[in-house]
Amino acid sequence: MNKPEPQLRVGVRPLSLHDASSLLALVQENRSYLLESFPEIAGTNSVPELEEYLLKRWLQNTDPTIFCHSFMISEEATIVGMIGVVIQRATKWANFEYWVTKSRNGRGIAQRAVRIVCEWSFTNSDIDCLIIRATPANRASISVAENLGFSFIGNITSQLTSESPPIVFRCFQLGRESLGTDATK
Ligand SMILES: CC(C)(COP(=O)(O)OP(=O)(O)OC[C@H]1O[C@@H](n2cnc3c(N)ncnc32)[C@H](O)[C@@H]1OP(=O)(O)O)[C@@H](O)C(=O)NCCC(=O)NCCS
Repeated sequence: MNKPEPQLRVGVRPLSLHDASSLLALVQENRSYLLESFPEIAGTNSVPELEEYLLKRWLQNTDPTIFCHSFMISEEATIVGMIGVVIQRATKWANFEYWVTKSRNGRGIAQRAVRIVCEWSFTNSDIDCLIIRATPANRASISVAENLGFSFIGNITSQLTSESPPIVFRCFQLGRESLGTDATK
């Protein structure tokens, strides 16, 4: 696996509806790859469908128990993926969702983006703990969690959508006390 080049500049910024057309191009390139982890976005075929998907994500923020922040990931000026953090207000836990276009995998982009959003989440919300969940076969996502100092806390079985079959996920956690330690540097 190639290591990131030293000059690689990864950034994140809040997602906007204006991103729908560039995001659709990225979804089209990655449709089969996204199907397993992100069936809803993988199923979008047009800008209006993608806008509806994004609006649904924002509208779930009217649910008082959760709050979902979505960001675009960029490498230099190019959009290369998405990252979201879903805050469960009652428990003060939040879980990550992220993907990076297949053509840029293995360059350290996900790891850098997750690190940025870890710091953002602990600084801008009162959450105590961040969670990454990944299927046992998803070695890349498990490496992202382990490399950032997340610790394994157990397996859960859950569905990605109400129609999809139950899947076993490995769960990893990072506590607020780890912010600023080697884990998130
Ligand atoms: C998971 C995903 C976001 C990783 O993105 P990425 O930018 O390629 O990840 P990074 O380059 O930051 O790599 C992080 C670690 O994973 C490892 N890795 C990357 N791709 C890998 C692969 N195909 N197999 C095994 N390990 C892999 C890297 O080597 C690195 O570990 P290391 O530093 O110990 O060598 C990307 O594969 C993806 O979008 N997958 C589909 C969606 C998904 O599964 N999202 C996560 C849901 S939990």
